[in-house]
Amino acid sequence: MCGIVGYVGGKKAQDVLVGGLRRLEYRGYDSAGIATLDDDDKAHLTRSVGKIAELSKALESEPQTGHLGIGHTRWATHGGVTETNAHPHHVGNIYMVHNGIIENYKEIKAELKDYDFASDTDTEVLAALIDSNYKDGVSLKDAVAKSLKRIRGTYGIAVFSPKEPGTIIVARLGSPLIIGLGKDETLIASDASALLGYTREAIYLNDGELAVCTDKGAEVFTLGLKHLDSKPETIEGDLAQIQKGGYDHFLLKEIMEQATTLHNTLSGRIDPKAGKMHLGGPNLTEKEMRDIHHVVIVGCGTAYYAGLLASYYMEQLVPDLTTEVVIASEYRYRSLHLPKDSVALIVSQSGETADTLACLREIKKRGVKTLGIVNVVGSTIAREVDGGTYVHAGPEISVASTKAFTAQVVAMLMFAGMIAEYHGGDPKLIAEFTRELEILPKEIEKVLNDNHDTMKSLAKKYSKFDHALYLGRDTAFPIALEGALKLKEISYIHAEGYASGELKHGPIALVDDRFFEVFTILDNWLFDKSCGGLHEVRARGGKTIVLTNSKADIEADDIIRIESPIKLLTPILLNTLQQLFAYYVAVNRGNDVDQPRNLAKSVTVE
Ligand code: F6R
Repeated sequence: MCGIVGYVGGKKAQDVLVGGLRRLEYRGYDSAGIATLDDDDKAHLTRSVGKIAELSKALESEPQTGHLGIGHTRWATHGGVTETNAHPHHVGNIYMVHNGIIENYKEIKAELKDYDFASDTDTEVLAALIDSNYKDGVSLKDAVAKSLKRIRGTYGIAVFSPKEPGTIIVARLGSPLIIGLGKDETLIASDASALLGYTREAIYLNDGELAVCTDKGAEVFTLGLKHLDSKPETIEGDLAQIQKGGYDHFLLKEIMEQATTLHNTLSGRIDPKAGKMHLGGPNLTEKEMRDIHHVVIVGCGTAYYAGLLASYYMEQLVPDLTTEVVIASEYRYRSLHLPKDSVALIVSQSGETADTLACLREIKKRGVKTLGIVNVVGSTIAREVDGGTYVHAGPEISVASTKAFTAQVVAMLMFAGMIAEYHGGDPKLIAEFTRELEILPKEIEKVLNDNHDTMKSLAKKYSKFDHALYLGRDTAFPIALEGALKLKEISYIHAEGYASGELKHGPIALVDDRFFEVFTILDNWLFDKSCGGLHEVRARGGKTIVLTNSKADIEADDIIRIESPIKLLTPILLNTLQQLFAYYVAVNRGNDVDQPRNLAKSVTVE
């Protein structure tokens, strides 16, 4: 979603800002801009619709020379995709960029009668409000604090004024902001990846905090202007992780590196010899683990599907446990009744998803323990949960989530394996899962390498279809949902995932020559039933692809058969092939694979 960068220091601000914006491109955006202050304290503003390349072109004809500035990539929420609506916004003495949504902007706009608004944005209204308070000797810091108290909604902002050169004010409520501390320079970013290569020391601003940034560092305050003693933290990751590493797209890199990233997820957390799993992060006492009888798993999109797959495993492993997997955007407004013996798993790659974060807060209010299954270190969800675990998948740059899905499922499985010990779980089953987890990274690598060319040609064959159905039962059902999501979001082929048992309850009516059907069929006790759905579709002339680990005879137009000692975790293996399939279909259709249209990486607004 929208990205913010800021810089004050000795370097040419334009270079740092544009470089930072490029690092944030992956979040998805439709326009971009920067504003800087030159050494004569004159402000310059350049904005453009489209990619950062357009902004760079515009800056070529009018380069900005100053050493302080702010920049933004915008993903439209209020108002169309136009240059006027792009950030930074300039009102009076204020230059400002903003992530989030100001809910009461119309009300405030109506009160600000002295201002002519150029854009349709809520951001311009906030900039005007700050400007209206920035009078009669009031400092920029005080004007920002006063204005933010009037705001209902969410924001991450960076503001400067030519009247106070050398200073950028930042503040956050519900939208991340990180202040990178360098030597005689300070950087601002909504995402730590923009800071990599400049500094490892950073202050993660908390909700309701404001900071005054200069080239000498940052001072943090509450909105009531009480000084806070914020301790810098270390930013994780390195530049190589946010580069394509020889691949055509980040998506392909992220699919292919899953063996390595999964190894990091598992590192130090499984003991195959003892047949046990252990996560340190949840920080639960033995009594607390024994007391858990209900697990609610909260997420959006792919994170939700990861939770769904994990819930099947959890119920297999822990005999007296019920699970409930919920879509965060729905759950946050439901009348939640959580039994006291519940634990909530809050699943999020970015750790910033607005709906998931809102659920976390609702659940906490009800006194239920929350555990994060989060990838981005230091993200808001990671900071607000009672405990949890980082999935250590490394930066996921491509908008479509792939390696994070695999890591999330595995992290939740390890959580299940750990509590199963305290609930009379079958030690043999726990050991079997542990053994499979140990070999899973290598098996993923093998399956991806062995089937790469096949998936590529399969994608070529099916990339002209308009519709797809993905079908599976039991643990293959969440994979069907995830496979359909991956295909639709990057290829723009209409795709739906269903439990195969549902076919006769409606979706089989869709089968015609515009559709193809992808069946994931596992070699388990439901094999015959899964094949039943396949036969029914074929009998109606459906074009079928089967992904399976079974050696049995299966009739389909195309069969992808894997051989692996993995049994229980086969859905995870087969899902990596679905990812490759979706990737190559999208490439064949000439799509912007890493930044699919209309989508953003981290959905920080509702
Ligand atoms: C799909 C995808 C999204 C995210 C969802 C949740 O490929 O990436 O469905 O999974 O927006 O995002 P996080 O995990 O960051 O909360």
